[in-house]
Amino acid sequence: MNKNYIIPNEWSIVEEGFDKKNVEASESLFSIGNGSMGQRANFEEDYSGDTFQGSYIGGIYYPDKTRVGWWKNGYPEYFAKVLNAPNWIGIHIQINNTKLDLNTCEVSDFKRELNMKEGWLSRSFKAKLQTGEEIQVSTKRFISVKYNEVGAIKYNIKALNFSGDIIFSPYIDAGIENEDSNYNEYFWKTLKILEGTNEGSILAKTLKTEFNVGTAMKVDFAVNNNIIETTQQNIIAEKSLTYTYKINVQEGDTATIYKYGSYVSSLNYENEELIEASLKNVQEAKELGFEYLLEAQIKSWEEIWKTADIIIEGDVKAQQGIRFNIFQLNQTYMGTDARLNIGPKGFTGEKYGGSTYWDTEAYCIPFYMATKDASVAKNLLIYRYNQLDKAIENAEKLGFKNGAALYPMVTMNGEECHNEWEITFEEIHRNGAMVYGIYNYVNYTQDFEYVSQYGLEVMIAIARFWHQRANFSKIKNKFVILGVTGPNEYENNVNNNFYTNYLAKWCIEYAVDCLNKVKHNYPEDFKRIVAKTNLSGEETYKWLKVAEHMYFPYSEENNVYLQQDGFLDKEIIPVDELPKSERPINQKWSWDRILRSCYIKQADVLQGMFFFEDKFSSEELERHFDFYEPLTVHESSLSPCVHSILAASIDRMPKAYEQYLRTARLDLDDYNCEVHEGCHITSMAGTWMSIVQGFGGMRVWENGKLTFNPQIPKEWKSYSFTINFRGNIIKVYKSQTECKFYNESGNEIKMMVHDTEISIPSKQLVTV
Ligand code: BGC
Repeated sequence: MNKNYIIPNEWSIVEEGFDKKNVEASESLFSIGNGSMGQRANFEEDYSGDTFQGSYIGGIYYPDKTRVGWWKNGYPEYFAKVLNAPNWIGIHIQINNTKLDLNTCEVSDFKRELNMKEGWLSRSFKAKLQTGEEIQVSTKRFISVKYNEVGAIKYNIKALNFSGDIIFSPYIDAGIENEDSNYNEYFWKTLKILEGTNEGSILAKTLKTEFNVGTAMKVDFAVNNNIIETTQQNIIAEKSLTYTYKINVQEGDTATIYKYGSYVSSLNYENEELIEASLKNVQEAKELGFEYLLEAQIKSWEEIWKTADIIIEGDVKAQQGIRFNIFQLNQTYMGTDARLNIGPKGFTGEKYGGSTYWDTEAYCIPFYMATKDASVAKNLLIYRYNQLDKAIENAEKLGFKNGAALYPMVTMNGEECHNEWEITFEEIHRNGAMVYGIYNYVNYTQDFEYVSQYGLEVMIAIARFWHQRANFSKIKNKFVILGVTGPNEYENNVNNNFYTNYLAKWCIEYAVDCLNKVKHNYPEDFKRIVAKTNLSGEETYKWLKVAEHMYFPYSEENNVYLQQDGFLDKEIIPVDELPKSERPINQKWSWDRILRSCYIKQADVLQGMFFFEDKFSSEELERHFDFYEPLTVHESSLSPCVHSILAASIDRMPKAYEQYLRTARLDLDDYNCEVHEGCHITSMAGTWMSIVQGFGGMRVWENGKLTFNPQIPKEWKSYSFTINFRGNIIKVYKSQTECKFYNESGNEIKMMVHDTEISIPSKQLVTV
């Protein structure tokens, strides 16, 4: 696997030169999607080398039977797999009867580009076949944001040194498999194949979950840009549909195939409508034409970038990094459908089941909240509200009572899918993130009605969980939380993880605070919720007792909160002293050695200090940062962004910048040696936070006040970003010498900048 082969460019991800070792990594990096569906950047033509094929549709999953070494009561029966969906991009190509396969022919002038400004993927190369024919290929492909069930491909082949036949065989293949299938089972059943002239559709259903999906294609041909009619030959197999077209070309001619594809699913249609709906989509796409659809795509992305873009001057790699992160986040989730969420790999791979983790609440909500309309973040919260009953069932399975909820570690439909006891049963801090997400949203938007309508029920159920999960320790004379895994998964079954205990206490206090507010301001809702949850004042009093007397491990000697009881028994050796050859430790060391070591996978105590920064003094932050940062290996993608933000906040800009580059270019430079499996989508929201909250110092404290504290890494000339704050668009610019705010909205806006209150009239620019 090569690293650092992506060419720096402000708006594009670019690869030049063909290296088979990069194919799978590039398939991840150049992935395309539109928030509802997406694909890895697989070649359209056949490729017999190593490749990881993947096309995905949001919300379509398969419950793969759980596979574990030793079954434990409470394990879920299945793991929801994000499903590799029928492939519609494929085109077999033959030149005078020889197959085009980049694994076997001579490839030169290879260039691949993912244009993030306009939302398309292209490739160009020359190929010399074993039989001597030379061709120049150029392709362009995108998944439409506007017509969100459709994608389009334009594939050109120029005959460089021959006259003869180019055979295009576009196909739909429903005979696809998941690489991560637990029992090598096939997840799809083909129900119907409908053939037609230059178009066709396959109706397939997922086994067990019975999602029906219609996948259609329609093709069109041109020679030297003139549309031509060709004769079609059909080949129908059990699970696929292929049409073959022979086009005769003279030396110097360019033959083009346009291929339009569509997915429609039973999430949005009746089963009987699917074939027709998918065909209608590709017919309309063909009528509109490739160039028209492309124009629409460019416009859609222009709209997205208006509020999402971050401009960095003077550092192309950093610029490319942040845009890549913002682009991938938008490709994964656009926020229009409360049934969808943001999987850690988005539409770029299978690992993690592609379902919903605490990543959404802890990392993604701030990005969506500030770059889109508030309804988007609200949809993410409603997703969890809709799964509250399942979270209560999940807690009941583990022995909790009285409406206590434990949200799953990973889910597709609200049911727990994770099946490692140390995470499934122990990584319970995720429950706190659900409440933190609500708090963050309410603070930012001031939409307290969300709490009275939905959020409070979630908070009550979670407060009940923490109350029951903690127990009173006579020895400590405090409440303790035993047998947990904190965010640092390189420690399991620990007692009194600081982060977990802190969050538990905070969740209870925030829930009670919200209860009181709802009681006074929304009495009708209060009555409804109390009746529904059977809540009494006596019960909340008991919760508060737990919160008030929560135990936190502390080292007097080091003057820091300890990650968990006994942390200092470990041999403490800074990460810097580990030989490079032994990292990442999760690929080089035995699990046992990792567990006994002092190395921290991802921000843990510091995660808590990041969430609740206003509750700690800057000296406290510094002390904890200096204690934990040297021990952190950042082997979770979620880690460097938190350290970057904290470093900026305690004025450690070189460190903040180092960690920023790590989070921004984690996939582009393949820091963790795993990009071939897919990109780390959820941590990309952390990259955004590293600039806006880290360097920009943006916070909305509990008093609801918008605050900035802009600083700039010395490596950059300037940076600027835009936020949507309560419906007002604000632009922030910071250079080495200047700091400016532009209020694009129709209202005057008040904010704190470096501890001074400023007020910016509508459409005014203020230099601070
Ligand atoms: C991290 C978790 C995270 C998950 C999905 C794991 O490696 O440790 O915190 O939720 O990945 O991103």
